[in-house]
Amino acid sequence: MATMESLIGLVNRIQRACTVLGDYGGGEAALPTLWEALPSVVVVGGQSSGKSSVLESIVGRDFLPRGSGIVTRRPLVLQLQKTEQAGPQEYAEFLHLPNKRFTDFSLVRKEIQDETDRLTGKSKQISPVPIHLSIYSPNVVNLTLIDLPGLTKVAVEGQPESIVQDIENMVRSYVEKPNCIILAITPANQDVATSDAIKIAREVDPTGERTFGVLTKLDLMDRGTNALDVLEGRSYRLQHPWVGTVNRSQADINKNVNMIAARQRELEFFATSPDYGHLTSKMGSEYLAKLLSKHLESVIKARIPGITSLINRSIDELEAELDHLGRPVAVDAGAQLYTILELCRIFDQIFKEHLDGGRPGGDR
Ligand code: GDP
Ligand code: NA
Ligand code: MG
Repeated sequence: MATMESLIGLVNRIQRACTVLGDYGGGEAALPTLWEALPSVVVVGGQSSGKSSVLESIVGRDFLPRGSGIVTRRPLVLQLQKTEQAGPQEYAEFLHLPNKRFTDFSLVRKEIQDETDRLTGKSKQISPVPIHLSIYSPNVVNLTLIDLPGLTKVAVEGQPESIVQDIENMVRSYVEKPNCIILAITPANQDVATSDAIKIAREVDPTGERTFGVLTKLDLMDRGTNALDVLEGRSYRLQHPWVGTVNRSQADINKNVNMIAARQRELEFFATSPDYGHLTSKMGSEYLAKLLSKHLESVIKARIPGITSLINRSIDELEAELDHLGRPVAVDAGAQLYTILELCRIFDQIFKEHLDGGRPGGDR
């Protein structure tokens, strides 16, 4: 039943439907605007700052392509959907492979690689066309995260010089949208003042109201130093508290240390640290995931009036479009229009319930 669904889940569904429809060239004006009105979390940082590691920790699964250099070469829109304990087991689905369920996450990794290469060739080029991946699991929080290519300062062999600027432009095109929540990844073994993530976040969000600072690699700091100035907001102040993380090292990955063990070790790192012990309950990937999910949901709620009016516009537009289906149109596109129209109606109804202060739409 629709009202049992979380707001984030609904937003996820409508974003997927908009994307599919967009591929068919339908829903001319309102749909891209609707997509942009729906908030999501974008992961930003320099190459090797730990972006993929943070994402995998949040999901609790090992599924992203790895290696040195530019591994992420297309945006990855990752929708996490919490399922009921009694529901189906954990699985992943790509939007470009409908009806194919992945339960082996090493195959998810391979598919991301193959699908990246499909558009960029085996070259080290980048493409702005996103890959959409949904993960359904009882162990995740409801959250949409977008992984982007890492910011870099120099092109490597085989890459055009323009790639440095191209990546920055791609990142900027996401983070400059007022609805974008920025997850700014900064390694602790580097000066925050020189962080690529903070540099771009400061530019587009000077007051720091939509930036979450994440400090990675706390275990790699020089002995005798600590990151308290950053974590306690003295080095670079944001409206939201900084979250520190400790993820798997390259040696851990090579040894196949599993994610559960890694999370456990992360918690122990904080709990037993003379420097960070007092912050333990507000550190680590699991805490970060909950913090982001809660924030995303509250942002969606705050935007309900704006989103509702856009949805009403979309409904009008979609109905008009369906009226004109007399012209030749792909069967699938017609089906997608109906799907999205249906989703918009569900949204409209649930948003109204929230506005009326009625029972929230089942979001916990
Ligand atoms: P990305 O390029 O930003 O996606 O960075 P990755 O997540 O791929 O991480 C780059 C390298 O840093 C990998 O070898 C990771 O194993 C390592 N790494 C990431 N986070 C940590 C951490 O918290 N501690 C340690 N020791 N290594 C980390
Ligand atoms: Na990398
Ligand atoms: Mg990466």
